[in-house]
Amino acid sequence: MASPQKMAATVRLATEADAAALIELRRKLFSETSFMLWEPAEFTQTAEQERARIARLNSQPNSLVLLAEQGTQAVGLLSAVGGERNRLRHAAALALGVARSHWGQGVATAMVREAVAWSARIGLKRLELTVHTSNLAAVSVYLRCGFQVEGVRRSSLFVEGAYVDEYLMSLLHG
Ligand SMILES: CC(C)(COP(=O)(O)OP(=O)(O)OC[C@H]1O[C@@H](n2cnc3c(N)ncnc32)[C@H](O)[C@@H]1OP(=O)(O)O)[C@@H](O)C(=O)NCCC(=O)NCCS
Repeated sequence: MASPQKMAATVRLATEADAAALIELRRKLFSETSFMLWEPAEFTQTAEQERARIARLNSQPNSLVLLAEQGTQAVGLLSAVGGERNRLRHAAALALGVARSHWGQGVATAMVREAVAWSARIGLKRLELTVHTSNLAAVSVYLRCGFQVEGVRRSSLFVEGAYVDEYLMSLLHG
């Protein structure tokens, strides 16, 4: 029998009831990696604020929050935030992270594939994201799921004392 570490993760929609688990996972991710936007000390969001964020995104047809679990453990999250103005509603911006303990097990690929299928289903034209140019694992996931590099945002981030470039990547439907 496979050990729990090797069990495939399941991906599902996050609900307001997941607020505490998502806060805990986000806090963990921000302390484990500098590839995401928040510095650990900056992240002071409460479970109530997280609940409100999930409720807001779940009420927008062009937004999505996914949670990846192994058993009952939250190991990955993905959010797709849709545009709010008429001229932007056809597009959504992705952000995601996976707990370091579960890297390399296909969790991110499963979440991104789910988000791509969702975006096709609801008729979005465009998914987009930014990623550090040095984040080769993430870039390989996005390329594998059909994203292309559109360009480089030069010195767009300041991370641990140095300016960092990001790729702007997108996937277009139809
Ligand atoms: C990037 C991240 C989301 C990938 O999650 P994951 O669940 O480990 O991804 P997967 O297992 O689906 O796929 C990872 C792929 O990257 C590949 N990879 C890992 N390190 C790599 C490297 N240094 N260079 C190239 N490819 C690499 C793996 O081999 C794997 O591909 P494979 O399945 O063909 O072997 C995860 O590492 C993470 O959360 N990192 C910190 C936060 C982050 O970077 N978020 C994205 C911000 S845009």
